[in-house]
Amino acid sequence: MISRTGLSFSPSSFSLLLSLFAVPCAGDLSPGCTDEPLPPGCLQVTRPPVVLVPGDLGNQLEAKLNKPHVVHYLCTKKTADYFTLWLNLELLLPLVIDCWIDNIRLIYNTTTKNTETPPGVDVRVPGFGKTYPLEFLDPSKRTVGIYFYTLVQSMVEWGYLRNEDVRGAPYDWRRAPNESGQFFKDLQKMIESMYEQYGSPVVLIAHSMGNLYTLYFLNHQTQEWKDQYIKCYIALGAPWGGVSKTLRVLATGDNDRIPVISPLKIREQQRTAVSTNWLLPYNNTWSMDKIFVTTPTYNYTMKDYQKFYEDINYKDGWLMRQNTEPLVYNLTAPGVTIHCLYGTGVPTPESFYYDVFPDQEPKVQYGEGDGTVNLVSALQCQKWAGKQKGKVYMKELPSNEHINMLSNVTTISYIKKVLFDLPLL
Ligand SMILES: *[C@@H]1O[C@H](CO)[C@@H](O)[C@H](O)[C@H]1NC(C)=O
Ligand SMILES: *[C@@H]1O[C@H](CO)[C@@H](O)[C@H](O)[C@H]1NC(C)=O
Ligand SMILES: *[C@@H]1O[C@H](CO)[C@@H](O)[C@H](O)[C@H]1NC(C)=O
Ligand SMILES: *[C@@H]1O[C@H](CO)[C@@H](O)[C@H](O)[C@H]1NC(C)=O
Ligand SMILES: *[C@@H]1O[C@H](CO)[C@@H](O)[C@H](O)[C@H]1NC(C)=O
Ligand SMILES: *[C@@H]1O[C@H](CO)[C@@H](O)[C@H](O)[C@H]1NC(C)=O
Repeated sequence: MISRTGLSFSPSSFSLLLSLFAVPCAGDLSPGCTDEPLPPGCLQVTRPPVVLVPGDLGNQLEAKLNKPHVVHYLCTKKTADYFTLWLNLELLLPLVIDCWIDNIRLIYNTTTKNTETPPGVDVRVPGFGKTYPLEFLDPSKRTVGIYFYTLVQSMVEWGYLRNEDVRGAPYDWRRAPNESGQFFKDLQKMIESMYEQYGSPVVLIAHSMGNLYTLYFLNHQTQEWKDQYIKCYIALGAPWGGVSKTLRVLATGDNDRIPVISPLKIREQQRTAVSTNWLLPYNNTWSMDKIFVTTPTYNYTMKDYQKFYEDINYKDGWLMRQNTEPLVYNLTAPGVTIHCLYGTGVPTPESFYYDVFPDQEPKVQYGEGDGTVNLVSALQCQKWAGKQKGKVYMKELPSNEHINMLSNVTTISYIKKVLFDLPLL
């Protein structure tokens, strides 16, 4: 084998030396992630830095307590330091779960339209910029709540360095984006500094609700900023138009990731999270006449959200919904090259039938999707094709469940192709 310098090497030293000598190809620094193969004889030496944005429940949260009162004598009133509030399965066992709920719930202030933590509870998001808060949700048990780990580990095998050119952007997923101003400032700063440090625009990889956060972020940047700092955006399992399942979560609660938890218990946490209310289905995706919830006395469509909240006895939720509805409702194009990967072929809750509303589990009618995100919602991405500067790529992932898709070999190899500008086929 002959290198460009005309010397001959064994294949292994050849590739090693090539990586030292090769000049970047013309395509390397193009603003989009191209789907063109690299020209022959040309080797990409710069891998783009990557920022990971997790979904709802998708990163660790910590709390420190100094509470005036507790809901049960078993509950801790005061802690010396921060402890893991999410995820620690031990806090979710019967009885102590009441303490946990009283720490993680949010209180909606109808005057300020902001949420507040309960008195004496200080919640923080650990590890901004690091990958650990989203690789494993439960820091004490690395076998529980594996989230971004498989993807990050694969990237490390391709040469990436944790917390250096692959970083995490954890946030308080209980809240909606317009309560998360500092997060977006930090995210912008981190992207700009990675660009300076690695000499390449950044690739964003978001999962689930992290995509709505990312869209909101990109919608608030100028096109010039995006052209300079963003190479492209990989959207995994994005619920662009909301998720049907949210109606059940609000009405009856949903424990589907953690079987030891009683749905009616966790319902209180789920209702008070602004983000749950933000994720209700939108009329940009479903027909106004679509019946999502049937009870013996009423059929609820999107026109009936206010009544729905009254009937489940959570009127604050209607205020939260109205406050957050405009945030990404327009589905304004992100303005960067985007790859939308979406799971199909997994039965996905679409509508709910209650004999007793809202305190008994419903019968569920399933439709197409990834088990969480309805296909119609994921497909909204298609609308941006031709409506923005960057290209829009759609990639169906048959029989991929919403969370598992992050660890699926097809997903991971697709991400590799995008990062290294390899042919997508
Ligand atoms: C809501 O916020 C206002 C302004 O900060 C404060 O005066 C009021 O006490 C809060 N309401 C509740 C119920 O906490
Ligand atoms: C759809 O929802 C938007 C946002 O809430 C609202 O402004 C609009 O009137 C609704 N459209 C219809 C047809 O009801
Ligand atoms: C709900 O809709 C179904 C099917 O459209 C209809 O048969 C039923 O009578 C409706 N129920 C009520 C309470 O309006
Ligand atoms: C969030 O947005 C809504 C409407 O867009 C607004 O009423 C509300 O005050 C905002 N909340 C914050 C904290 O900015
Ligand atoms: C949504 O689009 C409408 C019509 O183009 C526009 O009037 C409105 O300001 C937009 N809202 C947001 C939040 O971008
Ligand atoms: C991974 O994704 C591919 C493509 O969607 C699918 O065919 C395969 O069954 C998935 N593998 C696993 C283990 O889920």
